[in-house]
Amino acid sequence: MLTTESIMEALREVKDPELNKSLVSLNMIRNIQIQGNDVSLDVILTIRGCPLKIKIQEDVENAIRQLGAERVTVTFGAMTDEERAALSASLRAEQHASRENATTQGREASSTPGIPQTNYIAIASGKGGVGKSTVTVNLAVALARAGKKVGIIDADIYGFSVPDMMGIEQRPTVIDEVILPVERYGVKVISMGFFVEDNAPVVWRGPILGKMLRNFLHEVHWGELDYLLLDLPPGTGDIALDVHQMIPQSKEIIVTTPHATAAFVAARAGAMALSTTKHEILGVVENMSWYTDRNGDKEYVFGRGGGEKLAESLNVELLCQIPLGAPGNVLEDPEYSPSVYPTHHPTGKLYDELARKVTQAVTT
Ligand SMILES: Nc1ncnc2c1ncn2[C@@H]1O[C@H](COP(=O)(O)OP(=O)(O)OP(=O)(O)O)[C@@H](O)[C@H]1O
Ligand SMILES: [Mg+2]
Repeated sequence: MLTTESIMEALREVKDPELNKSLVSLNMIRNIQIQGNDVSLDVILTIRGCPLKIKIQEDVENAIRQLGAERVTVTFGAMTDEERAALSASLRAEQHASRENATTQGREASSTPGIPQTNYIAIASGKGGVGKSTVTVNLAVALARAGKKVGIIDADIYGFSVPDMMGIEQRPTVIDEVILPVERYGVKVISMGFFVEDNAPVVWRGPILGKMLRNFLHEVHWGELDYLLLDLPPGTGDIALDVHQMIPQSKEIIVTTPHATAAFVAARAGAMALSTTKHEILGVVENMSWYTDRNGDKEYVFGRGGGEKLAESLNVELLCQIPLGAPGNVLEDPEYSPSVYPTHHPTGKLYDELARKVTQAVTT
């Protein structure tokens, strides 16, 4: 028989997709009415126009139908300002407690107070346009495919590109001052691109840039993460330095093309990691390594050997070589993105392999 209690019990299993918490514990379920096999209820969202409303509705309806209900009518409402403030305060308190807790558990060496306790991996390069963002996005998606909890900070504050590359059109939900990252392909993403209108140029200067990055670390509700990847701007500039200072425990992957000059310039980024910031370099990714022509022959359009040479000079492993080629995704696909290689694509498989190596390198 349908009762308010059985419905509440069933809804305990239904989570708010952004907060990853039960709708019941978030006090979002109100006013359950039962008439025979028909159920109606109110779902109180954190904000009006919550982007994940449809998902929540489906999950609630399914959970109640499984109890035998025939018709389920969901009416959406929004929290009052006071309720939202209370929620945001409790999220902050929880975030604070988990980060404090992490730093008092004897893991000081690998953690920095106040920022998420996770494995940080910065993706760096010497030159621009070698594929840092592409590698960041695809490594993140591959780690998520392997069951890891992954986030990306698009730390290229001026030249943000991660949202577009992943085909993200949604904007983050902000509850009071707590920012919820946008999730795509199982990866939580935050980017300056979410906070500028119509692709307007970002003209902020140093201190604000640093503050933005700090906010991305401190004010974003990341929840539990195994990996947080940072897509750095090219070169050895201010932001790269900021990242290194804010997250001294971060590890790095250096991306280069096979071209000798690119590898030479990339070595500088590597040298900075080694000397200035003492970041451990996990390895080198060589991107745009070759192009396979119609006959199946490899053409080395950008030369050969840059990745290997760089890895050698930094005394690290050449983790993988990624050939030239588009993911071949089609616009009609609801999961479309211009830059994510699916797992059945040969390059997608290379990224799965890279994810495996990275996991191994980080956990050993
Ligand atoms: N293996 C590849 N095959 C084909 N195109 C690629 C490949 N890797 C990257 N690209 C394309 O090359 C361009 C530059 O890549 P990306 O933006 O990832 O580089 P970046 O190093 O992040 O650049 P920036 O320094 O501007 O941040 C993009 O248009 C991307 O789609
Ligand atoms: Mg980039």
